[in-house]
Amino acid sequence: MHRFNMRCSFFCALVLSLFGCGDGTNTPIVDTPDPIITAAQVRSQLDALPTANTELSALQVELGRLLFWDPVLSVAQDTACASCHHPDFDYADGLFASLGTGASGLGPERQGGARTTRNSPTVVNTVFNGVTIESDAVQSEAPMFWDNRHQSLEAQAEQPLTSAVEMRGETIAEADVMPLLLQRLNTIPEYRVLFADAFNQDEVNAINRERLLSALAIFQRSLVSNNSAFDQFMRGDQTALNTLQQRGLKNFIDIGCVACHSGPMFSDYQLHVLGTADNINNPNGVDSGADQSFSFRTPSLRNLANTAPYTHSGSRETLRDVLSFYVALSRGVSHNSQVAPADIATQARALGRVDSATESLLAFLDALNDADFDREIPAVVPSGLPVGGNILEQ
Ligand code: HEC
Ligand code: HEC
Repeated sequence: MHRFNMRCSFFCALVLSLFGCGDGTNTPIVDTPDPIITAAQVRSQLDALPTANTELSALQVELGRLLFWDPVLSVAQDTACASCHHPDFDYADGLFASLGTGASGLGPERQGGARTTRNSPTVVNTVFNGVTIESDAVQSEAPMFWDNRHQSLEAQAEQPLTSAVEMRGETIAEADVMPLLLQRLNTIPEYRVLFADAFNQDEVNAINRERLLSALAIFQRSLVSNNSAFDQFMRGDQTALNTLQQRGLKNFIDIGCVACHSGPMFSDYQLHVLGTADNINNPNGVDSGADQSFSFRTPSLRNLANTAPYTHSGSRETLRDVLSFYVALSRGVSHNSQVAPADIATQARALGRVDSATESLLAFLDALNDADFDREIPAVVPSGLPVGGNILEQ
């Protein structure tokens, strides 16, 4: 007791001499500013992602990874999923719109081939597509693509395989692709064994369409990034966001970004008309969005650091450019000649002062990055073809 008092009074004296104030207690007054905003104040609109992932079979994940990287799934055997969803670009491709079969090179260096209409989104965290503040994502209903036109990662996985621009090419009919791919996989003994082991089947019948799509989906479900500074803040570490980031979070809510960018993924997964410009460099011309209504899905705002350029058309080079787009929107400007200002979503026209909040909003968006996700690239793929397709050639 005596020793404790001695140490306490020494400590208090030190504190008093440092902070120069004595209110009769031994509580040091530390210079922590009042929080600008707390997790409790935002939890009804935004939240952390769950820390634990769903239980996934390791054999299925690793089979899916090989398939994701194997250009054997493109008719010309030159393009893999990873050609356009590469870990160096946070599982997107860094192009305003992707280049499919016939192209070579990776990221902005990629050339040739057919051009997609839209910007490649990341596939990281797609296991959470459809999650809202009220309810978890339902895997069979998970909305996919900029226009939500397919539901579930399984249904999505068939689309690039059969798309002429992405992996099919023009040499065979859409209906013939899947039989060709399954037959090819069946001629590769390693795939027969991997499918049999992953799905508990005998080798002769192990490979089919359903299991191919399932393995691709399950691999993507394993790509999770859920430990951004924002997630840490929401899990109780008030210091995980600095003062400017906290101000950005407050502005994000007060200005009205959260009207659409809500929930743990910063998306309501709804379609909205923003009148985003088409990309003048895209030969595909006008993109009229979902049901030709010029509406597009609210994208997640997680991990934007490496997925420029932005919006469905890839027409905004930087996040600052996106924010200046919103400044114009809030002043009633449409960037698309096909969209009248009055047709732009009311939540976008009602946005508050985006211009004066720009620096804090950018700081806050930066707090949504978490680069710590699975970036493993297989050393070889079972077909023996170049891993990831023609991504190393120029
Ligand atoms: C040629 C480039 C290219 C290839 C190859 C490609 N993708 Fe994509 N991917 C895209 C583009 C572009 C979009 C957006 C298209 C749209 O929204 O209309 C997209 C969208 C997606 C989405 C939707 C993500 C979301 O949040 O809505 C998933 C999942 C996906 N791709 C997975 C795959 C898988 C699996 C493969 C391989 C079987 C693959 N992709 C092959 C370019 C590509
Ligand atoms: C009316 C709903 C709505 C509101 C309000 C809104 N957004 Fe968006 N946001 C969207 C939609 C929809 C897109 C996709 C537009 C497109 O591609 O044409 C988008 C795109 C973005 C993108 C580009 C992401 C990417 O991956 O390309 C960013 C960044 C963004 N919004 C941030 C914000 C910020 C910051 C605010 C507040 C100032 C805000 N948004 C307000 C719906 C909204």
